[in-house]
Amino acid sequence: MARLTMRQVRDFQVPARAMTLWWLGQAGFLVRSPGGKVVVVDPYLSNSCKSVGDCDGFDMDRLVPPPMSPADLVGVDAYAMTHSHQDHLDPETLGPYREAGGVGPFLAPPEAMEKLLAMGVPASQVMMVWPNKKLAFGDVSLRATFAIPLGGDDLTHVGYLVSVREGPTLYITGDTGYHDVLAASVAEHRPDVLAVVINGTFRNLGPAEAALLAREIDVKVAIPCHYDLFPANQVSPQTFHTNLQLLGIGERYRVIEHGVPFTFPCLPS
Ligand SMILES: [Fe+2]
Repeated sequence: MARLTMRQVRDFQVPARAMTLWWLGQAGFLVRSPGGKVVVVDPYLSNSCKSVGDCDGFDMDRLVPPPMSPADLVGVDAYAMTHSHQDHLDPETLGPYREAGGVGPFLAPPEAMEKLLAMGVPASQVMMVWPNKKLAFGDVSLRATFAIPLGGDDLTHVGYLVSVREGPTLYITGDTGYHDVLAASVAEHRPDVLAVVINGTFRNLGPAEAALLAREIDVKVAIPCHYDLFPANQVSPQTFHTNLQLLGIGERYRVIEHGVPFTFPCLPS
């Protein structure tokens, strides 16, 4: 298991017109731009979902430790959340991050924003987002996207398009069901890389729907996520790969490891 530090992220040399991302597990990603900006989306760096799962009879005891500590996120230029569920807006990641001096800015759709404020995060540190809302941080921007919620407890899900100026765009779906509007509204922004939930449970995209989305938005690289941490939420990423192959785009599949940098366009080996 890689042990990732913010220093490693800061020191990583991202080529011009490229981006580097690190998967943090579940739906969490760190992204660094060539200009040195670092944004994080949906970091889940604790085991807080275990007790939530225990209450509902689901085994949510994480299978592998987090690749970095919440305190090590201090210094990110933006801390974005796709919705308010605990594996995306995690109080036990947010708390230690804030105690260590982290001040956001926190990007959140309305119901996630309400939860942040209820946790005592100052309103001055929170920026509300909604589908198509775009915010820039130096040479990196985040545009919130449309997403289909999984249930009535939070009806304001988003995903994010993370773009480097004059460089690539990464589409992080967040938790979402499938809908034609999902592909139609994102395709016009021509994302290069897709980080897609594939677990297929709790009304999320399954491997076949995730592959269909990859084809509809015509990404160059399709990375599966949100299948790896909880016994109650596992699916083999190979099933996603097989579905991409069935659609004739199997070569776009790329599985990445927690905490290991992935640069797009790919660095020559
Ligand atoms: Fe989730």
